[in-house]
Amino acid sequence: MRKSAEIFQEASKLMVGGGCAGGRIHAALGTPFYIDHADGSHVFHVDGEEFIDYHCGAGALLFGWNHPRIREAIIKCVDKGFFMNFDSPATLEFARLFKELVPTVEKIRLTNSGTEATLAAIRAARAYTKKNLIIKMDGHFHGMHEMIWFNGGCGSDLDKYGQTRSVTPATPGFPAGAEKNVKLIEFNNLDAVKHVFETYRGDIAAIIMEPVNYDCGCVPSTREYMKQVRELCTKEGILLIFDEVISGLRFRPGSAQGYYGIKPDLSTFAKAIANGFSLALVGGKAEIMELFNPTGPVICSGTSSGNLMSVMAAIECLKMAMEPGFYDQVEKIEKNLCGELNALFGKHGIPGHIRSQGAQFAFYFGYDDPQMDYILSETVKHYHPQLYRRFTRECLAEHLYVFDGGEKPFPQHNGFTIAHTEDDIALTISKVDGIFKRLK
Ligand SMILES: Cc1ncc(COP(=O)(O)O)c(C=O)c1O
Repeated sequence: MRKSAEIFQEASKLMVGGGCAGGRIHAALGTPFYIDHADGSHVFHVDGEEFIDYHCGAGALLFGWNHPRIREAIIKCVDKGFFMNFDSPATLEFARLFKELVPTVEKIRLTNSGTEATLAAIRAARAYTKKNLIIKMDGHFHGMHEMIWFNGGCGSDLDKYGQTRSVTPATPGFPAGAEKNVKLIEFNNLDAVKHVFETYRGDIAAIIMEPVNYDCGCVPSTREYMKQVRELCTKEGILLIFDEVISGLRFRPGSAQGYYGIKPDLSTFAKAIANGFSLALVGGKAEIMELFNPTGPVICSGTSSGNLMSVMAAIECLKMAMEPGFYDQVEKIEKNLCGELNALFGKHGIPGHIRSQGAQFAFYFGYDDPQMDYILSETVKHYHPQLYRRFTRECLAEHLYVFDGGEKPFPQHNGFTIAHTEDDIALTISKVDGIFKRLK
């Protein structure tokens, strides 16, 4: 029996689904992908095989595995006693650097996960505005908590204003009536924003969105849409929350908000800010942030929040992102990898394209027109999940780790890191060329 099969058999007796996260099962395998170690752009499977990694910690990895500077920071942290539950000069250094990178974040509070960060942001928004309703974009993911995880059928049952008829909890176990606190609208549809603001005037605390909707592949917006949403929020006294858990640090300093030129009232960050170490944050206008305890009454705390190891890893990440040329290199890899992958669709006559931004990309099997990506209901109509499943299975056979979280009606995000080399890219392109030949 292969080692991975043995681990799965034993782990399934002790761990739900044989792994630590429900969403971590690779659907083409039906099991977690057990690895032994990782280095640079490669992961090494327990069965002894080496894979080029294109899932990169679910969007957490921007600098590659086992990066020497992060490794050095961790060793320093071990020398300091790898303490947690204390603040230190390192947390101050992190806060200073972060504000330099993302100036809208006047004050921060550290948490351990993106889920905690969005929970805290929504709680603060309600406390600040003294309003209840949260406006969410259909298909955007903000963590697994009862505050926000509601679906509307992913574009399938939107009315003409982009307001879903039924808003349903994404999972059983939510308190009865929790869905009454959230209204769903369609992303990139300004009429939907205007309509929902008008309909629920006086009741809305905040609108929350992923500035690039990676949780449905790689769906950008336009500067004009963002500008209008910002203006409407200011006019109506509604807070604008940018969930930059994935997009954070993936764009030239300032993250996605810098790219769009928008100042959200609150933002959340995680994943790449510490290259996958457990560090997240909520930050924004000082007068809202001051509501958190101990200066205010809104509780946001955690035993391991701001633990030294994650903070010291994050400091190195922020410093590397601030170095000249860093984003030039990200963009160069993106152009080579995603440009060439995109060309393969045309070469083999497979309907589809690649959409990429911020070192993340998605395979849009089923249609050629990138303009449709902006509207989820269009994507859902044309996307071909079965073809993606065949593709990811073939990728595994070719030692390319492209993630498949299950048959979703929209594309899934994959990514690359600064550690992906020209050789990795050339090998990947030649392998995908062969795969596309077979898919046809
Ligand atoms: C945009 C976004 N927000 C929040 C979260 C939740 O973050 P975490 O998994 O760290 O709880 C995720 C996770 O994928 C995410 O993509």
